[in-house]
Amino acid sequence: MLLLTAVISVVMLQFDWNGVAGSTEADDVDLLLDVMIVLSAFVYAIVLVMLGYSIWRYRAKPGDESDGEPIHGNTKLEVAWTVIPTVIVLFGAAYSWFILDKIEARDANRLQVDVTAQQFAWRFEYPEQGVTSTELHVPVDRQVELNLDAIDVIHSFWVPEWRVKKDAVPGKPTSVVATPDREGSYEVVCTELCGVGHSTMRAPVVVEPQEEFDAWIEDQGGTTGGGTAGGGGGETALAAEGRQLFDEQGCSGCHTLKAAGANETIGPNLDEVLPQRSEAEIRNSIVDPGAELSPGFGDGIMPDNFGDALSDEQLDILVSYLVDSTQGKK
Ligand code: CUA
Repeated sequence: MLLLTAVISVVMLQFDWNGVAGSTEADDVDLLLDVMIVLSAFVYAIVLVMLGYSIWRYRAKPGDESDGEPIHGNTKLEVAWTVIPTVIVLFGAAYSWFILDKIEARDANRLQVDVTAQQFAWRFEYPEQGVTSTELHVPVDRQVELNLDAIDVIHSFWVPEWRVKKDAVPGKPTSVVATPDREGSYEVVCTELCGVGHSTMRAPVVVEPQEEFDAWIEDQGGTTGGGTAGGGGGETALAAEGRQLFDEQGCSGCHTLKAAGANETIGPNLDEVLPQRSEAEIRNSIVDPGAELSPGFGDGIMPDNFGDALSDEQLDILVSYLVDSTQGKK
């Protein structure tokens, strides 16, 4: 059994199961997985050896058609197969607890990011920096706490290279921490089946040096500050606000709209269906998407809560942005 355990373990540990490790939590999680693989190999070896021995030792002799001898159980064996798995499972639980406790410890100087998940997009708010974005930028070697919220159904936040994963549940705030220690571009992956666009619910992640992160924050502050400070002055500020709403509300996660650089096909192609529609019809389709369906798209694909999520003013901005970008500016 021990020999077989060693052989299975060596083979299974050759695989790079989790891929690139990009956070300080990753090493602990990967080691935990390796330990679990060896324990599973041990259990598997017990089963295989017992099975093989029983098949060989208790096989029927040629011509033997009789029933097996009735037996009355074996107390020693039953105690063994209760105690050994109990010890293994308790060890696994205690070790996992230890790791979880370690990787969930909060640093005092961590960066706060409020994450909002919705069908089928992510939004990231930096409350201390006053920035909202559809990309997650974080400085390298600093712990980030992601405060998760969902506005429609359950989603789950996962950056595979960081290993940690947590559900975003409507009405129940959750949070997860990671300390990225490897610069580069990654992706947030939604890892809870949340609807027809689940597989495309991803967002870019950039881990960069502190100076580049600061520069990005300034860039974002500059644009959002300029865009809203205008108070509906010029057409361009309004268009920028409309486009931002289009991204933030997740429209770009499902629709194609050339003007916004969106090219998803879960919902109707807006460049094709909107030119024939009036402002009132477009507005109605956002608030009550089931009322009039485009051919080939079923009821219930588009969330029906945009009437609550958007203020009247935001709806006006979004509708005029859609009209302008599909029917030409008036
Ligand atoms: Cu959101 Cu899957």
